[in-house]
Amino acid sequence: MSAPLLRVAVLASGRGSNLQALIAARDAGALPVEFVAVGSDKANAGALQLAKDAGIPTFTLDPKAFASRRDFDFELFRQLDATGAQVLVLAGFMRIIDGEALKPWVGRMINIHPSLLPKYRGLHTHRRALEAGDKEHGASVHYVTAELDGGPVIAQARIDILPGDSEERLAQRLLAFEHQLFPAVLRLMAAQRLDLIAPDRVALDGKLMDAPLQLRNGTLVD
Ligand code: GRF
Repeated sequence: MSAPLLRVAVLASGRGSNLQALIAARDAGALPVEFVAVGSDKANAGALQLAKDAGIPTFTLDPKAFASRRDFDFELFRQLDATGAQVLVLAGFMRIIDGEALKPWVGRMINIHPSLLPKYRGLHTHRRALEAGDKEHGASVHYVTAELDGGPVIAQARIDILPGDSEERLAQRLLAFEHQLFPAVLRLMAAQRLDLIAPDRVALDGKLMDAPLQLRNGTLVD
């Protein structure tokens, strides 16, 4: 009998192209997980429709219905607990999460961020990389901790910044690599090969990593 699939819930606020890449990897037999729920803070998020089309249960929580961010976050995690999810994936979830609320998920929650962390936490990462005159840009998948975009980085994808790149062009070119990076990291989690070693180190196959894994030709290498 094969091992039970890792139960994964996804949170997304936007169009959901990263969610779509995860679902596609699963459908291709390259990602042995079960998506138990997709949640959003935006009722009109494209990600919710993608999930519905894929037969994944969805839920929406409206932040305006809560007195505080903390109340919202505790209810969010209550609902996620109820799905039986073992791992939580933030795929373009555009909210800062309360540190206390997320504590039980530390080590089981990952986020994708469009920069080579620790560079450019927060918003407008492509613009900031261009304005800084950087030669390269990239995306990072990291464990989520109380520090915004500050948790230990598991893996990165790097691309060259090309002459004449605009913010949009750079973002679009990077997105294709995000779509390879995210499933590759989740695959490692599904294989139980990754651990967060408190407070800020990542172990692969029980061995502390000195630097994030790098995506090369669609594969993660150290
Ligand atoms: C991606 O650029 C991701 O890195 C960032 O938010 C964006 C989400 O895009 N965290 P999508 O909704 O997955 O298309």
